[in-house]
Amino acid sequence: MPGEMELIVVVGCFKRRNNPYMMIPAELLQRFAAAKSVTVLTGAGVSAESGVPTFRDAQTGLWAKFSPEELATPRAFRRNPRLVWEWYDWRRKLVAGAKPNPAHLALVEMQNLFLRFHLITQNVDGLHQRAGSRNVIELHGNITRTKCSEEGTIISSWNDTGDAPPKCPACGGLLRPDVVWFEEPMPEPEMRQAMTGSTHCDVFFSIGTSTVVYPAAALPLEALQSGATVVEINPQPTPFTAQAHFALARAAGIVLPELMKALKALRAF
Ligand code: OAD
Repeated sequence: MPGEMELIVVVGCFKRRNNPYMMIPAELLQRFAAAKSVTVLTGAGVSAESGVPTFRDAQTGLWAKFSPEELATPRAFRRNPRLVWEWYDWRRKLVAGAKPNPAHLALVEMQNLFLRFHLITQNVDGLHQRAGSRNVIELHGNITRTKCSEEGTIISSWNDTGDAPPKCPACGGLLRPDVVWFEEPMPEPEMRQAMTGSTHCDVFFSIGTSTVVYPAAALPLEALQSGATVVEINPQPTPFTAQAHFALARAAGIVLPELMKALKALRAF
């Protein structure tokens, strides 16, 4: 790993030699290579190339076809628990059939190269963990876990009587997915870790998120205010794009492997 001065020279060589990693700005590569601490926030776009639909993409997003008020709130569950359970059951099956994509795998490589690394996700699909990422901070829960809607305890098995939703074997309450719905509080330990990661990093990546759902959407701003270099990776502009130091408008599954290739080439130089 070159020192900072050497790094500038090496990046300069990259620039001069027609940098083969054209989509990665040399200045970004330089800051990334010099970083001691890296934090990543991901959203649904990171799983799009695994075939998991996002929420807000115009044609394919889930909220283009379904209403969050009818499916992703405590009120919706009280009103029609069967509908909510069955919708999540459909998504659970979809996620079970999906595989991590090159974006997930590149983030595992990234974690392996930085001693101080935080991966914060709004995704509930568990694909980061299946790719091999460790200590993932899940802000919105995980669809593969089920909990009792009365007691909040995680339930791993129950009597399959054909009821939808099934009932808690301990108290008879209705079971629900262990995800955070609209109007529900965020999990406190995860929010604390996410804040620490965002305010104590040299480089912060906001990847595949529309940055419209708070409090997660505030994390790139926190990183910015704390002096980090902030990078957005998203083929579409978001409300945050203009504030990012670097906005790479390509798919995460293309950009992230290129970024890791460029970083490894620079370190080996
Ligand atoms: P959204 O659906 O709001 O945004 C997905 C973003 O991914 C969009 O900005 C797309 O442009 C971008 N995108 C699509 N394909 C991509 C790709 N291949 N590479 C990179 N980016 C890509 O999803 P989130 O921002 O994750 O919350 O949504 C935040 C929260 O709103 C979700 O966690 C969920 C939702 O309602 C709850 O259910 C509580």
